[in-house]
Amino acid sequence: MEEFHKVRRLPPYVFEQVNRLKASARSRGADIIDLGMGNPDLPTPKAIVDKLCEVVRDPRTHRYSSSRGIPGLRRAQANYYGRRFGVKLDPDTQVVATLGSKEGFANMAQAITAPGDVILCPNPTYPIHAFGFIMSGGVIRSLQVEPDDGFIPALERGIRHSIPKPLALILNYPSNPTAQVASLDFYKEVVAFAKKNDIIILSDLAYSEIYFDGNPPPSVLQVPGAIDVAVEFTSMSKTFSMPGWRMGFAVGNQRLISALTRVKSYLDYGAFTPIQVAAAHALNGDGADIAEVRDIYHKRRDVMVDAFSRAGWIVPAPAASMFAWAPIPEPFKHLRSLEFSKLLIEHADVAVAPGVGFGEHGDDHVRIALVENEHRIRQAARNIKRFLASSAKQPNNVVPLAAHR
Ligand SMILES: Cc1ncc(COP(=O)(O)O)c(C=O)c1O
Repeated sequence: MEEFHKVRRLPPYVFEQVNRLKASARSRGADIIDLGMGNPDLPTPKAIVDKLCEVVRDPRTHRYSSSRGIPGLRRAQANYYGRRFGVKLDPDTQVVATLGSKEGFANMAQAITAPGDVILCPNPTYPIHAFGFIMSGGVIRSLQVEPDDGFIPALERGIRHSIPKPLALILNYPSNPTAQVASLDFYKEVVAFAKKNDIIILSDLAYSEIYFDGNPPPSVLQVPGAIDVAVEFTSMSKTFSMPGWRMGFAVGNQRLISALTRVKSYLDYGAFTPIQVAAAHALNGDGADIAEVRDIYHKRRDVMVDAFSRAGWIVPAPAASMFAWAPIPEPFKHLRSLEFSKLLIEHADVAVAPGVGFGEHGDDHVRIALVENEHRIRQAARNIKRFLASSAKQPNNVVPLAAHR
């Protein structure tokens, strides 16, 4: 029987192959250090959990909630943008709460895409950026670019060679998976380009608060007039270690926010009210919890970069996000990212995410997520050192066993 139209457009998740191998190694008793999935391991701060527990006792909160977010939550998000970015937002028309930023992004795609609309999308990138639009009938034109001098020329080529003219451009800085960051000057140029060419900007700022070395990432909405063309998505998942709570936001251009709000009003009743109240409580906090989370990732980053380089694998230090984007070590480059990731599980008990899972242009890298503690990260480096040393002595040992499965 032929696969359904939409399902045919969704390739099997590459990460599933690594996950299966990881599970089978664990079932044999291997202690796999999991730096693969970007699933934060830190507990949600106690004050947020306490707020949830307090509110959930009130039966009035057990009814259907508000799809677009309760007013106090939207106000809290607008205040956060004011404090953090100096961006003034109207909580009634320019802010909508989402069930995690992933849901918000996917339903924005659903709200604005007509069949065949072209979307300019980074490659490699977090999969929903492309597949949200593919599921909505859009067509992706990949941009294999960094936020540097080559970006605007690539956009120009994207416009010149796309029929119809692209509807939207996706930005994601700090990037998952590459951890690249963008400057405000970069955003100024992109906004000017988008306005001139009448293109929507969808900016994914999921890592707004996970940054190091005192350099907070800017918001595209800081560019004067950006709100005419841009919407930005943020997430509570990483900022407050709340991934399972499913809470995020879209803010910005009123027409786009209204389109997303309308689609969501048909699809969901919003997050459970106690979650929304606890999320507002988190956003209204003094920032100490955020600083603590940031500090933990910062220390892990330093430990990882140092320990991996001493193990013989030079990994560039990410300036932000909870990921390092690591070039595959030279002797293994020919294997590409999936086979190399499988080897690391089989021979080093370390799981990473193969770069190809984020797009074809990610295939010479793997992504290392800082989601294990410092002790485990050091252990991962020791395992990798042993693996690199043994494969240098016995090249035959690096035959990708997994490839034969
Ligand atoms: C760039 C990026 N956007 C969005 C998300 C999804 O976050 P949420 O939990 O808010 O749906 C992630 C999660 O890893 C991400 O890396």
